[in-house]
Amino acid sequence: MNLPIVAYGDPILRKVAVDIDKNYPNLQQLIDDMFETMEKSKGVGLAAPQINKSIRLFVIDSTKMYDEDEPDHGEALREVFINARMLEETGDDWPYEEGCLSIPNIREDVYRQEHILIEYYDRDFKKKKKTFKGLTARVIQHEYDHLEGKLFIDHIKPLKRTLLKGKLDKISKGIVDVSYKMKFPK
Ligand code: NI
Repeated sequence: MNLPIVAYGDPILRKVAVDIDKNYPNLQQLIDDMFETMEKSKGVGLAAPQINKSIRLFVIDSTKMYDEDEPDHGEALREVFINARMLEETGDDWPYEEGCLSIPNIREDVYRQEHILIEYYDRDFKKKKKTFKGLTARVIQHEYDHLEGKLFIDHIKPLKRTLLKGKLDKISKGIVDVSYKMKFPK
């Protein structure tokens, strides 16, 4: 099922999400629905707060970002992250133009560190502890932020953010040209 994506301005995007256990109702269906929603909206990641559930669950698919031969950018990954905890972020900050399905039509350079070490459960509730780098790490960092109530625009310079205020207000009022289903706060 294709789910509506919560737009910027909804307080759920600012909440710290909570852990779940393997008995969470209809978890497998929810994960499938999140992948479907992400794909229909052409996203590379989707976090549960964006579909109006404040739980520590996100899905990513960075495979489409790896069309060109970019060996330095690590391995592409399609994966489910449950109850994730970021253990380390290391390496140099590097810029990449990020966007977010909850903040349509805005893209800005965000600096993040290159390597991460993260602990999480996969969709079968198998515990994993893994390192990622490059674009895949980037997508994980962006989605992980959603669990902490953070958005990519929090990482940009205050002056730039001020310049975006008008656009952001419009998004929260539903005044935005978007091709996928959204849920607006007002
Ligand atoms: Ni996002």
